[in-house]
Amino acid sequence: MRALVTGGAGFVGRHLCHALLERGWEVVCVDPIVPRTGGLRPEHWPLYDPRSYDGFTWVEEDCRDYFRRDERFDYAFHLAAMVGGRLMIEYDPLAVAEDLAIDADFFRWALRTRPKKNVFFSSSAAYPISLQTRDNAHLLSEDMIDFDTKLGMPDLSYGWAKLTGEYLARLAHKSYDLDMVCYRPFSGYGEDQDLTYPFPSICKRALEFRGQETLTVWGTGDQSRDFIHISDAIRFVMESMDLVSNGDAINLSTGRKTTFKEFAKIAANAAGYDPVVIGTSDKPEGVFARVGDTALQTKLGLKPSISFEEGVARGVAYQARLLGG
Ligand SMILES: NC(=O)c1ccc[n+]([C@@H]2O[C@H](COP(=O)([O-])OP(=O)(O)OC[C@H]3O[C@@H](n4cnc5c(N)ncnc54)[C@H](O)[C@@H]3O)[C@@H](O)[C@H]2O)c1
Repeated sequence: MRALVTGGAGFVGRHLCHALLERGWEVVCVDPIVPRTGGLRPEHWPLYDPRSYDGFTWVEEDCRDYFRRDERFDYAFHLAAMVGGRLMIEYDPLAVAEDLAIDADFFRWALRTRPKKNVFFSSSAAYPISLQTRDNAHLLSEDMIDFDTKLGMPDLSYGWAKLTGEYLARLAHKSYDLDMVCYRPFSGYGEDQDLTYPFPSICKRALEFRGQETLTVWGTGDQSRDFIHISDAIRFVMESMDLVSNGDAINLSTGRKTTFKEFAKIAANAAGYDPVVIGTSDKPEGVFARVGDTALQTKLGLKPSISFEEGVARGVAYQARLLGG
């Protein structure tokens, strides 16, 4: 099999490329390493060296330029996006609006070259924020985005772009018979994630504050997320991508709600102490509660294997190695 992975040098992309290369696939990874994203050149990928696989091809280029070449693929995984963590999403929403342009070019390329399978990485940010407030928090299930009946406001320009991408995916199947599936990752995390994301930064701070009586987290600390280890998320994609072809979306979630205060406590405990965790209100915290329903994933046979405690322990150990402790 020959696969294209756009944005493949980012956090999710590196793990996806690994899974595909381990399957013996030919992988073309296209990524210009955009500043302020999690992208890294292959020689700096923290967990493995993709260049040691014969099937790996590195193209350091904007995918919009690469699309002009009309190369043929069996599978196309479209991950390229300006994501950049909460700060970029909140404070530079028009940088993120670039995703609309990147996605439009992806879909037009897919129509011309017709990969046998097209995998679009959407996001849990596409869900209506009205269902994620302190007074109205729901487990987010796939059918809460319904293009036929009603739509709710997604999370800023990032969520808007992802929602639009899902709509284009649906049209690509309906009007052009492209084989498509979308994924809505919740808070995918892993040791090698960029430090602008909460997971590695809280693991690191838990170590830096080791032994102190208090530990601070962004926002009130009462906001909650659904953390899924990246290797579970990628396995879910590999195991389910051939089961859906009409452009429908599947959550990548565990269904477990963890507040940032709880997360910081778990991290501090993994670092060997038990502080009081307090929130700071000077940094954006995003929506109040974002947790993904797992009924569809369960129906598809997808079950996470890494508990959050285990994932945090790994993250803290990894940061400790980086800090030389
Ligand atoms: N990490 C998560 O938990 C999560 C959650 C929801 C959605 N997603 C989605 O998964 C995908 C990957 O996210 P990530 O966490 O790996 O982010 P990331 O920032 O680590 O990676 C994004 C990659 O896209 C690349 N990129 C940006 N513009 C590009 C372009 N024009 N052409 C080619 N590459 C380009 C960047 O250089 C970077 O390497 C994104 O589409 C994101 O929206 C991820």
